[in-house]
Amino acid sequence: MAQDRISVALVGFEEANSESLAAALTQKNQYGVVEVPKQLSAINGQALSLSAANDLILFRTEAGDLTDIDALEKIRGNASGKAQIAAVTDASASLEVAQKLTQAGADYVFPDTLGPEELVAQLQKRFVAERPQLAELKPARHAQILTVARARGGAGGTTFAVNLADALLDRRGTFKKKSTNRVAILDLDLQFGKVAGFLDVPTRDGLYQMAEDKVIPDKVFLEQSMSEAANGVRILSAPSQFAPLEAITSAQINAILTALSSDFDYVIVDVPMALVNWVAPIMTMSDKLYIVTDSAVPSIHQARRLIEFYTEDAPSLPIEIVINNEKKPLVRGRHHVEAAKVLERPLDIWLPQDVPTARAAIDRGVPLNEVSKRSPLTRAIRQVAKTVIQTQKSHATQMNA
Ligand SMILES: Nc1ncnc2c1ncn2[C@@H]1O[C@H](COP(=O)(O)OP(=O)(O)OP(=O)(O)O)[C@@H](O)[C@H]1O
Ligand SMILES: [Mg+2]
Repeated sequence: MAQDRISVALVGFEEANSESLAAALTQKNQYGVVEVPKQLSAINGQALSLSAANDLILFRTEAGDLTDIDALEKIRGNASGKAQIAAVTDASASLEVAQKLTQAGADYVFPDTLGPEELVAQLQKRFVAERPQLAELKPARHAQILTVARARGGAGGTTFAVNLADALLDRRGTFKKKSTNRVAILDLDLQFGKVAGFLDVPTRDGLYQMAEDKVIPDKVFLEQSMSEAANGVRILSAPSQFAPLEAITSAQINAILTALSSDFDYVIVDVPMALVNWVAPIMTMSDKLYIVTDSAVPSIHQARRLIEFYTEDAPSLPIEIVINNEKKPLVRGRHHVEAAKVLERPLDIWLPQDVPTARAAIDRGVPLNEVSKRSPLTRAIRQVAKTVIQTQKSHATQMNA
């Protein structure tokens, strides 16, 4: 489960080393990883946020680099930084260098002759085994992160995301006014995202500012950047201005998801179709990925390619296929059987087509449920939400048993 993961920031490693370390860590399923290619001393203020958002900062430093030692002292001087810090330095470094690093606040110092597997084994031994209290140090991670991707433009990803969020509120009581759950939507389809429009809230440019200013977002940023829809779902919208996708970093995405997950019960993420690096932290932190598609052959093949890309860093991420604009067939056609084979998973979720309801919902800027509670489309999405809520409840019961 994502919430049990230990988040590690890899700072200042050469690209190849960073990649092999990240691979060795994520293979252990126990870790979520962000990679920051710059040196510790070069990321200044961001280091503090990294220290707040992660459990461990593992940084590469050249023996005797005083600027890194300075930066380390600054991070340590900041009381809110909770991360453990480990340095990797030249094997030839003197004892004095190791001492300096420790004095400046490194919890561990490792020689760079350790291969990625050995290094991870060392971390496991010291960091994980010796610190069972780690779970208490971490912020109360809580939310289920449900990510929605689509196999082609217009497949219905946003419709599913917005209405799943609405249904997950699980409203009870007189006139169903009281929500059981706190739900957020994060619209990371930065260039074309329409979540705000679907729920008639103004777009905010927080994500654009974050990309521009290269800051690691914190709770204050989120409070200022989110809007609330009439149903109570909170939205971090895609910006109205054109934001270049490469401007966003994995560290930023990791920080947003970490912050949101301690404030909400469910976080729905609408992801772009673009194959960007920062998809990796989304997938490693997600509890489930829905791929919305139709059952036409090209869409299914595209879905398959996407699954391969998305699961590269998150091999055990549960994925569910959502066939949109088709009601569940009584007898599956041959192309359905073929599609399930290509995707190597059953076609479990079917959303029937209902153009008048979908159209009216968009025009009015309200969830499908406001237009028609009984529409088969509304019901199908409500059923998905029910399954999510029930599965989580039974998981929680098992954990407490
Ligand atoms: N089951 C459905 N029945 C009828 N209309 C639908 C259905 N699902 C989606 N639509 C309509 O199809 C259009 C595209 O849907 P939506 O914006 O959700 O897709 P998307 O995959 O997010 O697209 P984009 O690539 O633009 O992000 C919208 O007008 C929506 O109302
Ligand atoms: Mg969309």
